[in-house]
Amino acid sequence: MAANPTACRHFLTLFDLTSAEARQLIARASELKQLLRRGQDYRPFPQRTLAMIFEKASTRTRVSFETGMVQLGGHALFLSPRDTQLGRGEPIEDSARVLSRMVDAVMIRTFEQETVERFAAHSSVPVINGLTDRCHPCQLLADMQTYHEHRGDIRGKRVAWIGDGNNMCYSFMEAAQLFDFELQIACPVGFEPDAALLAATSDRCRVVHDPAVAAAGAHLVATDVWASMGQEEEQAHRETLFAPFQVTAEVMAQAAPEALFMHCLPAHRGEEVAAAVIDGPQSVVWDEAENRLHAQKALLEFLLRSAS
Ligand code: CP
Ligand code: NVA
Repeated sequence: MAANPTACRHFLTLFDLTSAEARQLIARASELKQLLRRGQDYRPFPQRTLAMIFEKASTRTRVSFETGMVQLGGHALFLSPRDTQLGRGEPIEDSARVLSRMVDAVMIRTFEQETVERFAAHSSVPVINGLTDRCHPCQLLADMQTYHEHRGDIRGKRVAWIGDGNNMCYSFMEAAQLFDFELQIACPVGFEPDAALLAATSDRCRVVHDPAVAAAGAHLVATDVWASMGQEEEQAHRETLFAPFQVTAEVMAQAAPEALFMHCLPAHRGEEVAAAVIDGPQSVVWDEAENRLHAQKALLEFLLRSAS
């Protein structure tokens, strides 16, 4: 059977949006946030259902998508491979065909990027990447909204990524391209981000290996855990290698005085970030977490409208 005959919009990486769409989406997210704060009812999607497949743990992604869908008048279903046929070997293509005949959108958190791509290729409804080993695009929508709400347009600003060249780093690189900012990446040798994306974004993204150099003059400093989900057995080894890459008050002192600190959470104080930084005045981590709700409501609105 041909892949995705309806060719609806999916959100598998940030590059599934144009620059203009990404900017509109974060502006819309702030509008939806204001509507909610004013207690205004906005339920454009009664009877619509989002299926959420989680092959990895989650607090923020699960709660924000489920709450967001309810606030929009719809409903969300939590599907764990442990309790569905997905965990018993039913082909991903068959699961995509079946689910997309029943629900209006599907969110997937899994390991391989290829899994969300295969699912989307056989889905007749929009598919959203809720994190893979390659990228975490939903988080960057919330992060870009958060930057905009605190400091205005990020265009032309300098951002430092300090730590692992992981899925969050990948999405920051795509964001650098879409939102037009400069990204300096400080990671240990051997933990550099995806080489192909680095080559494709070389006019905006650069690996420097030194946290102080990356942070110099930065308007935003961001980090993430040293061992991501699925890398738990590497934790001890990584703790030694990554120790010089902790975001400390000294690292923040290299940045611009008005610099913000971001972390997608969950965080490990005393590992990738000092408690004084994540709990300090430059940190906007709770706004980032809250904005997952608003940014994803804007994303759901965009995708559900594009599919109807
Ligand atoms: N930042 C983030 O995606 O958090 P969860 O793993 O709790 O969903
Ligand atoms: N890099 C982390 C992000 C968690 C939201 C992970 O993949 O576990």
